[in-house]
Amino acid sequence: MKAREIRPAIFWVGAVDWDRRTFDELIPLPDGTSYNAYIIKGSEKTALIDTVDPPKEDILIEHLDNLGINDIDYIICNHAEQDHAGAIPRVLAKFSRSKVLCTPKCKAMLIDHLHIPPDGITTVEDRQVISLGDKNLEFIHAPWVHWPETMLTYLREDKVLFPCDFFGAHLATSELFLTDECQLYESAKRYYAEIMMPFRPNIQKNMERLKEYDIKMICPSHGPIHEHSEFIINAYREWIADEPLNIVVLPYISMHGSTRQMVKYLVESLAEKGVSVKQFDLNDADIGKLAMSLVDAATIVLGVPTVAVGPHPKVAYATFLANMLRPKTRFASIIGSYGWGSKAKENLIEMVPNLKVELIEPVMCKGMPRQADFEALEKLALTIAEKHKGLKNPAGLEHVPPKL
Ligand code: FEO
Repeated sequence: MKAREIRPAIFWVGAVDWDRRTFDELIPLPDGTSYNAYIIKGSEKTALIDTVDPPKEDILIEHLDNLGINDIDYIICNHAEQDHAGAIPRVLAKFSRSKVLCTPKCKAMLIDHLHIPPDGITTVEDRQVISLGDKNLEFIHAPWVHWPETMLTYLREDKVLFPCDFFGAHLATSELFLTDECQLYESAKRYYAEIMMPFRPNIQKNMERLKEYDIKMICPSHGPIHEHSEFIINAYREWIADEPLNIVVLPYISMHGSTRQMVKYLVESLAEKGVSVKQFDLNDADIGKLAMSLVDAATIVLGVPTVAVGPHPKVAYATFLANMLRPKTRFASIIGSYGWGSKAKENLIEMVPNLKVELIEPVMCKGMPRQADFEALEKLALTIAEKHKGLKNPAGLEHVPPKL
């Protein structure tokens, strides 16, 4: 895609990565991603906001050449992670007079991770403003969204926010302004779940700070630009809210059918009681979808068979992931089976210190489930339904993002 002017004197100069399928060798990218960078041409000075992942740096340089950029005064580094900062050395090699502007923590990271000489990096304070002539940029420090050094850049005259990863989406698209709101909502929620959810309290604080700013447009560094900021801001308010929804997430695996029978019984029983369930067979589950389901769920139930007295490793992996993502989940339980003895339940409970959940009595059965096991599952479903009383349902109109 060619460089594009998105508002007068503001240009998108990023790269679309249609074919990338994993991020950090961990996060699935079913729809690719993009690395958005922006040029702002003021009447006196020019700034580049963020760069691109190093394998795409030729594209960034080509954009700059095509726009006839022969001088960059400031390279603004909102975030030191490689997919945004990784091409700074290449840009500095071409525009040696440029100054890199970033937070003090970011400066240390750029030196450590990219070996950028310290002399070329100038740190900026929270709320500091720099002038490009007829345009002024304000820097808003936003630590732990999602790294400790992150900041946001606000272009005052145009009321545009450049928040780097914040409000982003892993989505490769030829449309800089995506009109398909459902696709945008899905991609942005997946991104929030995978990247931002562990930092929900920090996001809440930063969303409060952003209320002071009149933000018309949001230009993140992944995925589409939010031409109307309300859409993504409203979606984030929904995702970071403290109150979960009437949802049970049930990741499970079954080796010989016993745990599967238990899962089937519990899911049907919960559904009869008006509880929404999201069930994931961990043999081939999309981990991103599992993460998304945890954004709103009030309860997580792990379905686990026993392997050599411990939990099946695939369930242990999902449990580790849930603990890392720190969802707002309030309740947890475990169902599963064993052949002769099991410490699966105890091991899994030890794996979730980050989850501030109330444990509901697990149901573990020896061999194939019997009548008494199904009765215990029925009791579990009743307890969950009781605990969920008063929670909003996921399909409630109040959770549909507003049409703009
Ligand atoms: Fe898109 Fe935290 O990097």
